Amino acid sequence: MQSNVSDIRLPVALQTLRKALHAKGEQLYKHSILCAEIARHLADAAEFGCGMTPQKAYCAGLVHDVGKLYIPDAILQKPARLTDSEWELIRLHSIYGVQFVKGTPLEEFSDVIGLHHERPDGNGYPYRRSGSEVTADARLIQVADQTAAILEDRPYRRRIGHPGIVIQELAPTVEMCFPDHVKAMLEALRVVAEQHAHSAYEPQGLGEFGGAQGVMP
Ligand SMILES: [Fe+2]
Ligand SMILES: [Fe+2]
Repeated sequence: MQSNVSDIRLPVALQTLRKALHAKGEQLYKHSILCAEIARHLADAAEFGCGMTPQKAYCAGLVHDVGKLYIPDAILQKPARLTDSEWELIRLHSIYGVQFVKGTPLEEFSDVIGLHHERPDGNGYPYRRSGSEVTADARLIQVADQTAAILEDRPYRRRIGHPGIVIQELAPTVEMCFPDHVKAMLEALRVVAEQHAHSAYEPQGLGEFGGAQGVMP
């Protein structure tokens, strides 16, 4: 089943998704919304050669980690570094996510879900794709995903708040994913880093599901 962002069923699907992410846990919920907001900001700030509108980028960010619904909480929320076998399991979330959206209005995000941990240098997962096989849309979500992760507290480490260090951490990924847009993308990311310099992200309306408001950008 194919759909597009003008599909009238999409807001309902996204609201359902948001509830499912929240039910799985605050960490996944906050991460997904922060990634969505950063992806929208990046798509809004400049083209970066990706085909996503800001609205589509927001939706892609919200759904990118949906496969983590299938990962046990003991691994997702483990307050220590993961073992090799736990990492093997968590790497499957890209595949689980593609399976999850199959046949739903969210299926148009399959590529982004499946490819958001692939790297242009071929060192990503789960398929070890490389070069142009890693689409510009997936690269944009990869940058947004990594930015969100840096800005978040995780069970085993504290967030990074200092904008200069955030940009330093992100630069290698940006240089690999968007070699023709490094300066513009890092400038856009600096705005995000400065917005989140002093406190961890709290999405507005956490736990409130009265309607579709807040789901669509
Ligand atoms: Fe992921
Ligand atoms: Fe993620």
